[in-house]
Amino acid sequence: MDSKQVVLVTGSSTGFGRLMVETLARRGHTVFATMRDPAGRNATNASEIRALAAKESLPLHILELDVTDDGSVEQAARAAVEQAGRIDVAINNAGYVLTGLAESVTTEQAQQIMDTNFFGSVRVNRALLPYMRRQRSGLLLHISSGAGRVIFPSFGFYSATKFALEALAEAYHYELASQGIDSSIVEPGAYQTSIFGNLVKAADEARTDTYGAANQMPIKINEGLGKAAGNPQEVADAVLRIVETPAGQRKLRYRVSPSGLGVDEINALSEQVQARLFEIFGITAETAFVQRSAAAKS
Ligand SMILES: NC(=O)c1ccc[n+]([C@@H]2O[C@H](COP(=O)([O-])OP(=O)(O)OC[C@H]3O[C@@H](n4cnc5c(N)ncnc54)[C@H](OP(=O)(O)O)[C@@H]3O)[C@@H](O)[C@H]2O)c1
Repeated sequence: MDSKQVVLVTGSSTGFGRLMVETLARRGHTVFATMRDPAGRNATNASEIRALAAKESLPLHILELDVTDDGSVEQAARAAVEQAGRIDVAINNAGYVLTGLAESVTTEQAQQIMDTNFFGSVRVNRALLPYMRRQRSGLLLHISSGAGRVIFPSFGFYSATKFALEALAEAYHYELASQGIDSSIVEPGAYQTSIFGNLVKAADEARTDTYGAANQMPIKINEGLGKAAGNPQEVADAVLRIVETPAGQRKLRYRVSPSGLGVDEINALSEQVQARLFEIFGITAETAFVQRSAAAKS
């Protein structure tokens, strides 16, 4: 495979996504920086990216993609492949945070966050996998969170979306290795991006008026995460390293964080438990992902 890859990134208007597209393109990878509404709500972000691409002669292109819209995802996937002739990497990055005690979250809010943070990746992966399977190569990268492994009260629904994403990405990791395709997860800790300014609050606060001191939890957690937040370029640099890691040698999970919080321990234990489970079910050395896991460790 060419060492320069063709990469599609969702949610690249701001934050990690924006830094990823710039970092990857500066290394010579062909990048499709996708975002919703590049002619409207993201017009300034889109024109800044275009200006950077022109100034530095970067292989960086904007495509419209709303991860909640099947047609939009399929159209962007088709356009990227038509333009570049192939697709090597899909970075599922679009997402947002919903905060508040769980009982205050309406069913509609729960469905909306699932639609973006989880079903968004389902749509993107399903749109791009047929091309990757034809090539017998590719990487699905999923931007999860430490909150995809541990639970903060008042972040329950956000965690639910990231736990769901982790399950999907892990299943793909085991299933797609036989097709020559990697599936990996990045679990960032708290980083200074637009995410904290874009928090959606649980709408039905009357439900939790009687929770007393528990109502302080969302405030404390948001303050704590804000204080701990690191430089988001660390995440873009980690993503670049993963993209440039040879196929078959990528790990399932990458924790990238200014603070520990025990996520690495959970990941290590989970790997042992999964290995035992595969032994019990007779999924052993001849299976591609077992060989790939060994390669990733060596
Ligand atoms: N920052 C952190 O501390 C942190 C920690 C762990 C994980 N993460 C994860 O990292 C990812 C990126 O977040 P960030 O921190 O970079 O925040 P951000 O700056 O707010 O970026 C979020 C991006 O997602 C996009 N997005 C939201 N809904 C979308 C949709 N329906 N279709 C397409 N794009 C959509 C936003 O686009 P618009 O401009 O159109 O709204 C924006 O580009 C998220 O999945 C988040 O959960 C962040």
